[in-house]
Amino acid sequence: MQSEAGVSAFAGAERGVAIVTGGGRRVGAAISMLLAGRGLDVVVHYGSSSGGAAGVVRDIVSAGRRAVAVGADLRDPCRAAEHVFAAARDLGPVRVLINSASVFEDLSLEQVDERHCDEHVSVNLLAPIFLSQQFMRQLDSGSCGHIINVLDWRVHRPGADHLVYTATRSALASVTKSLAQQLAPRVQVNGVAPGAVLPPEDRPGWHQQRAAERIPLRRTGSPGDVTAAIGFLLDSGFITGEVLNVSGGEEL
Ligand SMILES: NC(=O)c1ccc[n+]([C@@H]2O[C@H](COP(=O)([O-])OP(=O)(O)OC[C@H]3O[C@@H](n4cnc5c(N)ncnc54)[C@H](OP(=O)(O)O)[C@@H]3O)[C@@H](O)[C@H]2O)c1
Repeated sequence: MQSEAGVSAFAGAERGVAIVTGGGRRVGAAISMLLAGRGLDVVVHYGSSSGGAAGVVRDIVSAGRRAVAVGADLRDPCRAAEHVFAAARDLGPVRVLINSASVFEDLSLEQVDERHCDEHVSVNLLAPIFLSQQFMRQLDSGSCGHIINVLDWRVHRPGADHLVYTATRSALASVTKSLAQQLAPRVQVNGVAPGAVLPPEDRPGWHQQRAAERIPLRRTGSPGDVTAAIGFLLDSGFITGEVLNVSGGEEL
């Protein structure tokens, strides 16, 4: 299989269906809309944001694509992955999997407990692994596809904060590179590592403060910067195992 420069083997083929975990709100919702805008039907996965997911589905359907909202708790990652892919069957073969859902809590070593660790490992690491497994089980032997893991710039420069979160994101970066090799040549597996693109709802000023103090570009990004990076990776036929920072240089 040879791709023209800059053109994904996937780009010219039947587009099929995309799954976006955590696709019902914030960055995940922007990713769902990006994929619908690129001609894919979308499975909008959610955990508790059923209203947000229903709204995203409505927007996608009014834009002329098919979409379905699927609730599944990623703390039970194997069962959730089976459930999400079972729901996707009604739309057709899944060609794109975007693992965007995550938990992002900051506890010090003194504070961490088993619940905190289990939740981060299950949602941030095991769910993308089992979803990738389901993805491969349903992909026809003649089809190509993309898996993109939404990570975090912290995978390149762990700090003192977000101890368990960062460990699970770094582990998923490692999985990204391993699967890029294991699933080639049919599936390209890449990561996008955002920085300050949308502040946590409980800390609205946190990103601006980081921009002023330590982001080299001295500004924050937006969900649109993340979707632009995902679109770039989907268009590429010759990039796999890459983690693309979308961070204003914060990891530097
Ligand atoms: N925002 C940023 O500036 C930034 C920076 C660096 C990296 N990132 C990464 O970008 C991605 C999206 O960021 P975001 O800020 O939009 O995330 P967010 O607001 O923290 O949302 C987390 C998403 O994960 C889902 N989720 C969490 N626990 C779940 C569970 N147990 N079961 C099912 N779904 C669950 C949530 O779904 P429900 O609401 O439906 O439960 C939600 O859609 C994440 O991977 C994040 O780590 C974001």
